[in-house]
Amino acid sequence: MATIALAVAAYLLGSIPFAVVVSRVLGLPDPRGYGSGNPGATNVLRTGNKLAAVFTLLGDAGKGAVAVILARGLAPRLGGGEEAVAMAAAAVFLGHLYPIFLRFRGGKGVATAAGVLAALSPGLGLILAGVWIATAALFRFSSLAALTAAGVAPLVAAGFFGWHLYTGVTLLMATLLAWRHRANIQRLIAGTETRIGRSQPTGR
Ligand code: G3P
Repeated sequence: MATIALAVAAYLLGSIPFAVVVSRVLGLPDPRGYGSGNPGATNVLRTGNKLAAVFTLLGDAGKGAVAVILARGLAPRLGGGEEAVAMAAAAVFLGHLYPIFLRFRGGKGVATAAGVLAALSPGLGLILAGVWIATAALFRFSSLAALTAAGVAPLVAAGFFGWHLYTGVTLLMATLLAWRHRANIQRLIAGTETRIGRSQPTGR
Protein backbone atom coordinates (compact mmCIF):
# COMPACT_ATOMS: atom_id res chain seq x y z
CA MET A 1 0.00 0.00 0.00
CA ALA A 2 2.83 2.40 0.90
CA THR A 3 4.48 1.63 -2.43
CA ILE A 4 1.35 2.46 -4.42
CA ALA A 5 0.53 5.62 -2.45
CA LEU A 6 4.07 6.96 -2.81
CA ALA A 7 4.18 6.05 -6.50
CA VAL A 8 0.91 7.90 -7.20
CA ALA A 9 2.13 10.97 -5.30
CA ALA A 10 5.46 10.83 -7.16
CA TYR A 11 3.70 10.47 -10.52
CA LEU A 12 1.55 13.56 -9.80
CA LEU A 13 4.64 15.52 -8.72
CA GLY A 14 6.45 14.43 -11.88
CA SER A 15 3.46 15.57 -13.95
CA ILE A 16 4.07 19.23 -13.05
CA PRO A 17 5.50 20.63 -16.32
CA PHE A 18 7.94 23.26 -15.09
CA ALA A 19 8.85 24.39 -18.62
CA VAL A 20 5.21 25.31 -19.24
CA VAL A 21 4.62 26.75 -15.76
CA VAL A 22 7.81 28.87 -15.72
CA SER A 23 7.16 30.11 -19.27
CA ARG A 24 3.63 31.13 -18.37
CA VAL A 25 4.72 32.89 -15.17
CA LEU A 26 7.48 34.80 -17.00
CA GLY A 27 5.25 35.70 -19.95
CA LEU A 28 7.18 33.57 -22.46
CA PRO A 29 5.57 31.50 -25.24
CA ASP A 30 4.56 27.90 -24.53
CA PRO A 31 7.67 25.75 -25.25
CA ARG A 32 5.49 23.17 -27.02
CA GLY A 33 5.02 25.69 -29.82
CA TYR A 34 8.59 26.51 -30.84
CA GLY A 35 12.04 24.94 -31.28
CA SER A 36 11.95 21.19 -30.73
CA GLY A 37 8.50 21.51 -29.12
CA ASN A 38 9.86 19.80 -26.03
CA PRO A 39 8.72 21.13 -22.63
CA GLY A 40 12.23 21.12 -21.18
CA ALA A 41 15.03 23.46 -20.13
CA THR A 42 17.01 23.11 -23.39
CA ASN A 43 14.05 24.25 -25.44
CA VAL A 44 13.14 27.06 -23.03
CA LEU A 45 16.73 28.30 -23.46
CA ARG A 46 15.93 28.80 -27.16
CA THR A 47 13.84 31.84 -26.16
CA GLY A 48 17.13 33.39 -25.06
CA ASN A 49 15.84 33.70 -21.49
CA LYS A 50 18.54 31.94 -19.45
CA LEU A 51 16.77 32.53 -16.14
CA ALA A 52 13.66 30.74 -17.41
CA ALA A 53 15.82 27.81 -18.53
CA VAL A 54 17.55 27.66 -15.13
CA PHE A 55 14.20 27.75 -13.28
CA THR A 56 12.90 24.98 -15.55
CA LEU A 57 16.00 22.88 -14.94
CA LEU A 58 15.79 23.39 -11.17
CA GLY A 59 12.07 22.60 -11.13
CA ASP A 60 12.33 19.45 -13.23
CA ALA A 61 15.43 18.17 -11.42
CA GLY A 62 14.04 19.25 -8.06
CA LYS A 63 10.82 17.28 -8.42
CA GLY A 64 12.84 14.15 -9.19
CA ALA A 65 15.01 14.64 -6.12
CA VAL A 66 12.08 15.57 -3.86
CA ALA A 67 10.13 12.45 -4.87
CA VAL A 68 13.05 10.20 -3.90
CA ILE A 69 13.85 12.07 -0.67
CA LEU A 70 10.21 12.07 0.44
CA ALA A 71 9.78 8.41 -0.44
CA ARG A 72 12.93 7.53 1.47
CA GLY A 73 11.67 9.43 4.51
CA LEU A 74 8.07 8.26 4.39
CA ALA A 75 8.40 4.65 3.22
CA PRO A 76 9.57 3.20 6.56
CA ARG A 77 6.72 4.96 8.41
CA LEU A 78 4.20 3.56 5.93
CA GLY A 79 5.57 0.06 6.13
CA GLY A 80 7.57 0.21 2.89
CA GLY A 81 11.22 -0.21 2.03
CA GLU A 82 13.62 0.36 -0.84
CA GLU A 83 11.09 -1.05 -3.31
CA ALA A 84 8.80 1.91 -2.46
CA VAL A 85 11.68 4.34 -3.08
CA ALA A 86 12.49 2.65 -6.40
CA MET A 87 8.83 2.82 -7.46
CA ALA A 88 8.61 6.50 -6.52
CA ALA A 89 11.79 7.16 -8.53
CA ALA A 90 10.33 5.48 -11.61
CA ALA A 91 6.93 7.12 -11.09
CA VAL A 92 8.20 10.71 -10.89
CA PHE A 93 10.18 10.11 -14.10
CA LEU A 94 7.13 8.62 -15.84
CA GLY A 95 5.08 11.58 -14.61
CA HIS A 96 7.46 13.93 -16.40
CA LEU A 97 7.34 11.90 -19.63
CA TYR A 98 3.60 11.22 -19.55
CA PRO A 99 2.06 13.99 -17.40
CA ILE A 100 -1.61 13.83 -16.60
CA PHE A 101 -1.69 17.65 -16.68
CA LEU A 102 -0.50 17.79 -20.32
CA ARG A 103 -2.63 14.97 -21.71
CA PHE A 104 0.32 12.59 -21.29
CA ARG A 105 2.56 14.53 -23.72
CA GLY A 106 5.54 15.53 -21.58
CA GLY A 107 9.29 16.01 -21.82
CA LYS A 108 12.32 13.83 -22.45
CA GLY A 109 13.27 13.33 -18.82
CA VAL A 110 16.88 14.48 -18.63
CA ALA A 111 16.61 16.93 -15.72
CA THR A 112 14.15 14.74 -13.80
CA ALA A 113 16.36 11.68 -14.18
CA ALA A 114 19.33 13.77 -13.00
CA GLY A 115 17.40 14.79 -9.88
CA VAL A 116 16.30 11.22 -9.18
CA LEU A 117 19.82 9.80 -9.57
CA ALA A 118 21.47 12.57 -7.55
CA ALA A 119 19.01 11.87 -4.71
CA LEU A 120 19.55 8.10 -4.92
CA SER A 121 23.31 8.64 -4.83
CA PRO A 122 25.03 12.07 -5.00
CA GLY A 123 28.22 10.40 -6.28
CA LEU A 124 26.34 8.81 -9.18
CA GLY A 125 24.65 12.13 -9.94
CA LEU A 126 28.00 13.93 -9.94
CA ILE A 127 29.64 11.45 -12.31
CA LEU A 128 26.73 11.59 -14.76
CA ALA A 129 26.59 15.38 -14.56
CA GLY A 130 30.32 15.35 -15.39
CA VAL A 131 29.66 13.14 -18.44
CA TRP A 132 26.86 15.48 -19.58
CA ILE A 133 28.98 18.61 -19.12
CA ALA A 134 32.05 17.14 -20.85
CA THR A 135 30.00 15.94 -23.85
CA ALA A 136 28.10 19.22 -24.08
CA ALA A 137 31.33 21.23 -23.86
CA LEU A 138 32.91 19.14 -26.63
CA PHE A 139 30.01 18.92 -29.08
CA ARG A 140 27.48 21.62 -27.99
CA PHE A 141 24.51 19.25 -28.42
CA SER A 142 22.25 18.93 -25.35
CA SER A 143 20.65 15.78 -26.77
CA LEU A 144 24.00 14.07 -27.43
CA ALA A 145 25.16 14.94 -23.92
CA ALA A 146 21.97 13.43 -22.46
CA LEU A 147 22.24 10.30 -24.61
CA THR A 148 25.88 9.80 -23.65
CA ALA A 149 25.11 10.18 -19.95
CA ALA A 150 22.14 7.82 -20.33
CA GLY A 151 24.34 5.31 -22.15
CA VAL A 152 26.79 5.01 -19.26
CA ALA A 153 24.25 5.53 -16.46
CA PRO A 154 23.21 1.86 -15.96
CA LEU A 155 26.86 0.74 -15.81
CA VAL A 156 27.85 3.46 -13.36
CA ALA A 157 24.70 2.73 -11.32
CA ALA A 158 25.66 -0.96 -11.20
CA GLY A 159 29.03 0.14 -9.82
CA PHE A 160 27.30 2.10 -7.06
CA PHE A 161 24.32 -0.14 -6.25
CA GLY A 162 25.32 -3.54 -7.59
CA TRP A 163 22.50 -5.94 -8.54
CA HIS A 164 19.77 -3.77 -7.02
CA LEU A 165 16.36 -2.29 -7.81
CA TYR A 166 17.97 1.16 -8.16
CA THR A 167 20.14 -0.15 -10.99
CA GLY A 168 16.99 -1.48 -12.65
CA VAL A 169 15.27 1.89 -12.31
CA THR A 170 18.34 3.60 -13.82
CA LEU A 171 18.25 1.19 -16.77
CA LEU A 172 14.53 1.84 -17.24
CA MET A 173 15.01 5.62 -17.19
CA ALA A 174 17.99 5.46 -19.57
CA THR A 175 16.02 3.31 -22.04
CA LEU A 176 12.95 5.57 -21.98
CA LEU A 177 15.13 8.67 -22.20
CA ALA A 178 16.83 7.32 -25.34
CA TRP A 179 13.42 6.43 -26.81
CA ARG A 180 12.16 9.97 -26.17
CA HIS A 181 15.22 11.31 -27.99
CA ARG A 182 14.60 9.33 -31.20
CA ALA A 183 13.87 12.49 -33.23
CA ASN A 184 17.08 14.04 -31.84
CA ILE A 185 19.02 10.89 -32.83
CA GLN A 186 17.70 11.20 -36.38
CA ARG A 187 18.69 14.87 -36.48
CA LEU A 188 22.15 14.09 -35.07
CA ILE A 189 22.68 11.48 -37.79
CA ALA A 190 21.36 13.83 -40.48
CA GLY A 191 23.54 16.66 -39.20
CA THR A 192 20.52 18.90 -38.56
CA GLU A 193 20.43 18.88 -34.74
CA THR A 194 20.49 22.35 -33.17
CA ARG A 195 23.40 23.28 -30.93
CA ILE A 196 22.81 24.48 -27.37
CA GLY A 197 21.25 27.93 -27.19
CA ARG A 198 20.36 28.18 -30.89
CA SER A 199 16.76 28.23 -32.20
CA GLN A 200 15.36 25.69 -34.61
CA PRO A 201 12.11 25.09 -36.49
CA THR A 202 9.32 23.18 -34.77
CA GLY A 203 9.42 19.38 -35.06
CA ARG A 204 9.77 16.79 -32.30
O1 G3P B 1 16.77 17.79 -22.28
C1 G3P B 1 16.32 17.49 -23.54
C2 G3P B 1 17.49 17.57 -24.50
O2 G3P B 1 18.31 16.44 -24.34
C3 G3P B 1 17.05 17.71 -25.90
O3 G3P B 1 16.14 18.79 -25.98
O4 G3P B 1 14.79 20.49 -27.07
O5 G3P B 1 16.93 19.75 -28.14
O6 G3P B 1 14.97 18.22 -28.10
P1 G3P B 1 15.69 19.32 -27.40
